[in-house]
Amino acid sequence: MKDTDTGGPTIYLKDYQPFGFVVRDVSLRFVLHPTATRVHSRITFAPNPDATAPRDFFLDGEDLKLIEARIDGTPVTPEVTAEGLRCDVPEGEFVWETEVEIAPDENTALEGLYMSNGMYSTQCEAQGFRKITYYPDRPDVMSVFTVRIESDLPVLLSNGNKVATGEGFAEWHDPWPKPAYLFALVAGELLNLPGSFTTRSGKEVELNVWVRKGDEDKCDFAMEALKKSMKWDEDVYGREYDLDIFNIVAVDDFNMGAMENKGLNIFNSSAVLASPETATDGNFERIEAIIAHEYFHNWTGNRITCRDWFQLCLKEGLTVFRDSQFTADMRSAPVKRIGDALDLRGRQFREDGGPLAHPVRPESFKEINNFYTATVYEKGAEVIGMLKRLVGDEAYAKALDLYFDRHDGQACTIEDWLKVFEDATGRDLSQFKLWYSQAGTPKVTMSEDWDGATYTVTLKQQVPPTPGQPEKAPQVIPFALGLLDPSGKEVQPTTLLELTEAEQSFTFKGLKNRPIPSPLRGFSAPVILDRETTNEERAFLLAHDTDPFARWEAGRQLAKSALIAMIDGGQAPDAAYLDALRQLVKDETLDPAFRALTMALPSEDDLAQTFADMGRTPDPQAIWDGREAMRGAVAEVLKDDLTLLYAANTVTEPFRPDAEQGGKRSFANVILSLMTRQDNGDAARAQYAAADNMTQQLGALSALLANDLGSLELGAFADQWQGERLVMDKWFAIQVSHARPDQAAQVASDLTERPDFTMKNPNRFRAVMGALAMNQAGFHHASGAGYKLLADWLIKLDPLNPQTTARMCSAFQTWRRYDADRQGMIREELERIAALPGLSRDTSEMVGRILE
Ligand code: PHE
Ligand code: ZN
Repeated sequence: MKDTDTGGPTIYLKDYQPFGFVVRDVSLRFVLHPTATRVHSRITFAPNPDATAPRDFFLDGEDLKLIEARIDGTPVTPEVTAEGLRCDVPEGEFVWETEVEIAPDENTALEGLYMSNGMYSTQCEAQGFRKITYYPDRPDVMSVFTVRIESDLPVLLSNGNKVATGEGFAEWHDPWPKPAYLFALVAGELLNLPGSFTTRSGKEVELNVWVRKGDEDKCDFAMEALKKSMKWDEDVYGREYDLDIFNIVAVDDFNMGAMENKGLNIFNSSAVLASPETATDGNFERIEAIIAHEYFHNWTGNRITCRDWFQLCLKEGLTVFRDSQFTADMRSAPVKRIGDALDLRGRQFREDGGPLAHPVRPESFKEINNFYTATVYEKGAEVIGMLKRLVGDEAYAKALDLYFDRHDGQACTIEDWLKVFEDATGRDLSQFKLWYSQAGTPKVTMSEDWDGATYTVTLKQQVPPTPGQPEKAPQVIPFALGLLDPSGKEVQPTTLLELTEAEQSFTFKGLKNRPIPSPLRGFSAPVILDRETTNEERAFLLAHDTDPFARWEAGRQLAKSALIAMIDGGQAPDAAYLDALRQLVKDETLDPAFRALTMALPSEDDLAQTFADMGRTPDPQAIWDGREAMRGAVAEVLKDDLTLLYAANTVTEPFRPDAEQGGKRSFANVILSLMTRQDNGDAARAQYAAADNMTQQLGALSALLANDLGSLELGAFADQWQGERLVMDKWFAIQVSHARPDQAAQVASDLTERPDFTMKNPNRFRAVMGALAMNQAGFHHASGAGYKLLADWLIKLDPLNPQTTARMCSAFQTWRRYDADRQGMIREELERIAALPGLSRDTSEMVGRILE
């Protein structure tokens, strides 16, 4: 393929060159105005002694109106292009000054400085700073920033510590050198929930959660989560906070979850605001995790940052890994692990198995925004989990200490990261490094042999071909295995097998009977396990396994095979599965959250992929019908138990957003949805009417809608919550997710006609279009209406917000699984998008890769 086939030039990791100059300091002055903000910059540059190429003074800059430029006080006339400017500069150190004008109010891309509901906010990662002023906008250029903001707005925030403030201005100084992508500015009529934290060395840190008026009652949880995160990072990683103040701001219009700007984290309001009435248990858990994630970036991302954007997983993989550890500590570790496995399989395996597959550390890109992916984040975190499993907890801690010691204040690479582990442990990690460079989910085939005395496990691995990588070498796979004897007793506790070759055998001696293996315990590696087994064996593991992940997995496999048999062969629901389920739901020794997870059926997408893996063409409607029939059968089998189970798990104490109560509520909601099939909605209506929290209210509404009931409640919900944007997002989404396959596109389309639908707010857009893409049978309905509607809206959104448009194109990434008719319709939509004049680089790259 030519470099410029779609969306402009390709950037390669191998072409990395340091910038020709270092930045000694940066001083910025903002005179805020919605349509004519003036940005003055004063930057001291000096030649970079480490530069390899001839020095080229090129500064990135996009959509900027250059008013003037000076070098050492003398006006100069740089050569200005759409991407930046170039100028002749003196030999030694010099002071560069510019004044530019920008229009935050016209910035709908939500990158750079933009306005959201009357407040000013910034988003600079990855390359948004170049929309604020001319600068070497790359993460390896780090500097100390001083920022003066001039505006009549009462709250003016930037990074670092506040050094001066007065009538109409505020000045901030950040003593820690940082790349421009961590710059942030916020200005508005905001209210704060204040707090404070004393670090372990006795330093008092001022904390604030800043929100718009009306949201001040929804900050407590975020504040508590922040304090817990600060404490946890001290206790577990020995990391202390390093400024006098830490600010969190909630903004309504935001492309992602949140952003770790130094000392001034900016959050999508959906990732901060929560009260029992407006947020579900799932929302609370997500908020806690994102607050932690952004806070943890202070060390893994900010103090130690990335040399270039190919190294994104250096900060993201590690920080996701750290926030998973945190959630496991704060809540239930097994439930978190199962959730992570579900998420990885649902999003990352899907990506890894299709046209968008790329290594955890990509080697080329056109638009870096397209690489904030499940692979970089979640597989990046799994790779660190494997590293920890392989070297052990102690060595991991030692390596991390060395990492912080050795690289504090630097912009690093994956090589630096792995070197730290090699130096700390003496281990050779060259084969392990393949996890960073080879895309695709390894498939591990397991077979066993028993000769009456010795049990032999043989593991074979195969990494499938992916775009640009036809052949793969074997990777290092930590494979955790336990063995049970036929009575259900564990005879071999979890053992870590290290698979390094294409095929390898491991033997176990001293066993009396042929054991039943419990493979891939704890989901010890992000691989697809292929092993011949029986439903009896799965039921056995579901009943006896000591490893919660493996136990859940056995239940899931059982459900899957029962569903496939129903969808495929028109068989009745498997009795062994229903039987196992009935035992499990009543097992009081099991955490209700675990029971809820085990009862959840494999998703439509998961089943579609399973068919594709069997070399078959999935039929979305048949999959939908099969799941419906299975739910009916489960409800029928459990019908005498439902009322009791529901009562036993209904929380009556005052709401607490913790794992214990949340687990009960999620289990009760699962039971309620089954009851709704039996009682015509009586129990769900009662729960809806009595609910004093969003988990129960939404759970009841969802149970009703899933059974074509609840139109009254749906209307009442909108009346009650019309003033709450985040709750209304749920209202939009739930209707689309529960729409029947033949109606989903119409329901979504009707919702877009409402005055409170706006594509300028990514949350609202995703509530409708994201929900449509997730409603598999609806999206893939044979009429093609789902494809067309999504494409129509992506076409409308692209000129306004390329980033969100491009992300949502991934709804089409599984297209090659489907039949010729569907493939034809999808291709047509993708080509319609690709052909648009002026299509963004973001969307153009995505569509190009999906079609390739
Ligand atoms: N760096 C952010 C995070 O992972 C994500 C992000 C990327 C936000 C790009 C905005 C834009 O925490
Ligand atoms: Zn992150």
